[in-house]
Parts: sequence; C-alpha cells; structure tokens
Amino acid sequence: MDVLQELEKRREAARMGGGERRIAAQHAKGKLTARERIELLLDEGSFEEFDMFVTHRCTDFGMAQDKPAGDGVVTGWGTINGRMVYVFSQDFTVFGGSLSETHAQKICKIMDMAMQNGAPVIGINDSGGARIQEGVASLAGYAEVFQRNIMASGVVPQISLVMGPCAGGAVYSPAMTDFIFMVKDSSYMFVTGPDVVKTVTNEVVSAEELGGASTHTKKSSVADAAFENDVVALAETRRLFDFLPLNNREKAPTRPFFDDADRLDESLNTLVPDNPNAPYDMSELIVKLADEGDFYQIQEDFAKNILTGFIRLEGTTVGVVANQPMVLAGCLDIDSSRKAARFVRFCDAFEIPILTLVDVPGFLPGTSQEYGGVIKHGAKLLFAYGEATVPKVTVITRKAYGGAYDVMASKHLRGDFNYAWPSAEIAVMGAKGATEIIHRADLGDGDKLAQHTKDYEDRFANPFVAAEKGFIDEVIMPQSTRKRVCRAFASLRGKQLKNPWKKHDNIPL
Ligand code: HXC
Repeated sequence: MDVLQELEKRREAARMGGGERRIAAQHAKGKLTARERIELLLDEGSFEEFDMFVTHRCTDFGMAQDKPAGDGVVTGWGTINGRMVYVFSQDFTVFGGSLSETHAQKICKIMDMAMQNGAPVIGINDSGGARIQEGVASLAGYAEVFQRNIMASGVVPQISLVMGPCAGGAVYSPAMTDFIFMVKDSSYMFVTGPDVVKTVTNEVVSAEELGGASTHTKKSSVADAAFENDVVALAETRRLFDFLPLNNREKAPTRPFFDDADRLDESLNTLVPDNPNAPYDMSELIVKLADEGDFYQIQEDFAKNILTGFIRLEGTTVGVVANQPMVLAGCLDIDSSRKAARFVRFCDAFEIPILTLVDVPGFLPGTSQEYGGVIKHGAKLLFAYGEATVPKVTVITRKAYGGAYDVMASKHLRGDFNYAWPSAEIAVMGAKGATEIIHRADLGDGDKLAQHTKDYEDRFANPFVAAEKGFIDEVIMPQSTRKRVCRAFASLRGKQLKNPWKKHDNIPL
C-alpha cells in the first residue's frame, strides 16, 4: 500500500478512538468526545497533535490484542485567540479514558514542553482512573503527572476541565492546578465513591451529591465554576485564558479597549446607602469600574461574602477582591479568607495587579468559626496580601473595622495606593460596640449611650483620621474611582519590589 494511504488509514483509526458505538454512548450522555472538545477549545485549525500512535505496553488480561492508537488521551498544542497553550484531553471511549503508563507519559511530555516553552496547560479530564490492568505502573504514571503539576505551579497557569468521572487519587492532579471547571450533571470528583462511602460510613449518597458540580462549587470549593454543558465550559475557558499571562515571566495580555479611562460615574456617589447597616451590591461598583463592564468571577457560588475575579482596566488584566455587604454584611470568615487568599496568591504568582474594594465589619464571630480555625484561615489572607509584590490599589468604600482593616490590603501591608471614599469608616470596631466597652461604667440611661456613640462616630466614622496619618493616600469622590484607579495602576507599571530570599515561606495551611 502507498505510504501516504497507510498514514491516512492509521490517522483515521486513531481519530476513531474506541469506535462508533462508544462515541455514540459518549454523545448519549450529553458529552463531547476528546477531539471535539479540543476543536472547540482551540482556534480553528491550530491543533498540532503529539503521540497519536502511542499504544500501551500491557500484556496482561488479554491486553496484548487490544492496543488502540493514542491510548486514551489526545495531547498536543494549539492557540486560543492566537496565544499558545498545551492541551491534553482524555478519551473516555478508549478503556474509559483510564490512565496507563504510556497515557501518563503522553501527558508528561506536553507538560514538560509547556514548562520549557512558557505556555499554560489545559487538561480535560474524563477518566475511569488508574488502568486497572496495569496496576502499579498506572499509579507511577499518576505520580509523574502530580510531580509536574507541582513544578509547574506558579510557573505556567494550569487549568483543569472535569468533564466526566474523576475519582480516587486521580482528583489530585486537577486539585493542584490553578482553576477547575466542571460540567453540571455529567462530571464528578471524589476521593472515594458512593459504594465505598456506604461500606465505611453507612452514608447513602449519589455520585452527584457526593462530588458533582454543585457540591464542589457551592460546598467544598474544590471547583471554581460549573457550566451547563461541555460547549459552554469550553467557551468560558477561552474567556478565562484571555485574562491570563502565558507564564510567570510575562505580563497578562493587553487587549484593545473601547472604554474611557477617565469615565466618571455619578451613580457611584449614591451607591453607599445613608444607613450604615444597609447592604448594597459591591458587584455594581466592580462592573462600573471595569472596561466595558466585563467582570469574570472566580468561585462565584462559594463564600459569597467576598467577590473575586478578573477585570481589565485600560485593556490590562487586574484581579479584584471585594467584600460583598449583601452577604453576611461582607464579613471575613473561614471560607471567604481561603477563597480570597488563594486568588491573591494566583495573581501575585502571575504578576497580575490587585484591586481591593473594602467594606468589612470584621471577622465573623462564633464557636464554629473559632473551632474551624478562623485564626489560621484568616491569616492566609493576611499572609497572601503581605507577601504580594504586585501593584496593589485599595479603595475603602465604607467599613474597615478591626483586624479586617489591616488584612484587606491596607497601607501597612505594602498597599501602593490606598484610597477611601468620604463614606469610609476606619475604626477598631463599630461605634456602638466601641462605646459599650470604653464607657461601660458610664452608660446609665439610653441618652448617654447615644451621646457617647455619636462622639465615637464623629471621631472615627470617617476616613480623615486615617488620612491624617497617611494610612489613606487620598479621599476620593466615588464618581471618579475608575479614573483614579486606572491612573494608579498606570503609575505602577514599572513597580519593582522583591521579598527577601528564602527557600519558600511557611504560610499557615
Ligand atoms: C480500565 C476501565 C477503567 C479502568 C473504565 N474502564 N474504567 N478500563 N481501567 N479504571 C473501561 C470499562 O471496562 C469499559 O470498557 C469502558 O471503560 C467504559 O466503562 P463503563 O463502566 O462501561 O462506563 P460507565 O458505566 O460510564 O462507568 C464509568 C465508571 C466505571 C464509573 C468510571 O467504568 C468505573 O467504575 N470504573 C472503574 C473505576 C475505578 O475503580 N478506577 C480505579 C480507581 S483507583 P468497554 O470495553 O466495556 O467499553 C484510581 C487510583 C488513582 O484511579 C491513583 C492515583 C494515585
């Protein structure tokens, strides 16, 4: 046979993966195939495949007769809006996408190349786990992938899409990547499945309840977002990718923008309600600050008392962390501290400047918080902000009370620009609570309490005491926040700041 025909024939066979019947079964579950996913993820025609003809080397359990080309994973590189990315996509139609020694080697090859060439890795997970016929060779393969996840962390962005089963030790590869996206109703992640759970703990739970997209985006926070189907998840991955730099030596991309950096927004002058305890929606401020109102939220469904995500200012990526007064009055607690700390550390690792919007009444009190270790978890956020060397701009819109004032990118944690709105209140605690403590012996009737409270408010419920000390660089008009923040970040483009040499830090885990 002609060699060209031979090549085409072999390619065609590899592209068919586990064959038509299994492809149909994949589609029947509402899932795309490994190759269809890559096609939607990457720019049209940009995919270059590696190792299409690799086969496993197992000879046990009749495997010698069954050696499909590619061995259950499609790997290679391509582009997303013209920027390079390495991809692996597990093929559930071949041995359930299970990971063999050679399957792992294919993934490791593209991870090594991604590191050498400074481009992100996107992994599409859809797998029955370790290739049962291979035993320890498969476990070794997982560990080789894990080691590369660890080495790549903070060097190139790593994104995991979980689009089918991902169970047992296999979950630890996505777990060590920067972002995990799941698909509703067709993906799950757990360390031990429902059957083992029932045997060991007697709990009866479905796979969806134990480790579905809703569980991991709302309860465990293992995943960053959940989408309706594969197509939406892949499109959203492209959107996220556009915010990110290719590696830790490059800046995030600058895109053409069609918004005025000097745009004033008078509606912001009335965003904070007159009643200091009334909530308002902090996401409104973020959207009004962002170029074209585009805000890409991370972990939108978890710890809603803090908002994290990416916007662009004058075309360049900025990470936003903002207390959300609509939920738990915007207080810091275990979940919100962990969520924001991880986000701040991602931004700092990849040179993405951080904008912090503050309206925080303090840390959430209670035994569940203390028993759950709010001290250590709160310290994560404090630590993350304090070690971050990227440009940091902070705007206090209303409350900045107690330790939470310090934590939220204060001047003292090397904030570069610390602005406050005229409505800001920077104090050790709310006026009533403060009065009840310092005037405990002299509260007498209600009038006295009111008078003392008012005195305290007059003294501290404003930004000027902090501004007099230089802890606030300037009190700004809410309407001009976009302009001020854009100018602040523009002035910081050449910022150079280095932490002292150390092997690594010991952040409270
Ligand atoms: C080899 C596997 C496989 C595996 C599935 N298949 N998992 N082959 N090794 N781990 C094969 C099946 O034999 C079947 O082949 C095809 O993939 C599709 O599987 P089905 O069972 O028909 O699909 P479905 O009903 O959708 O169920 C999917 C599943 C189930 C829930 C994932 O296949 C399953 O429970 N698999 C075993 C999972 C598991 O125990 N893995 C090891 C976990 S330990 P045919 O030829 O019929 O199409 C682990 C440790 C990792 O992963 C440790 C890292 C440190």
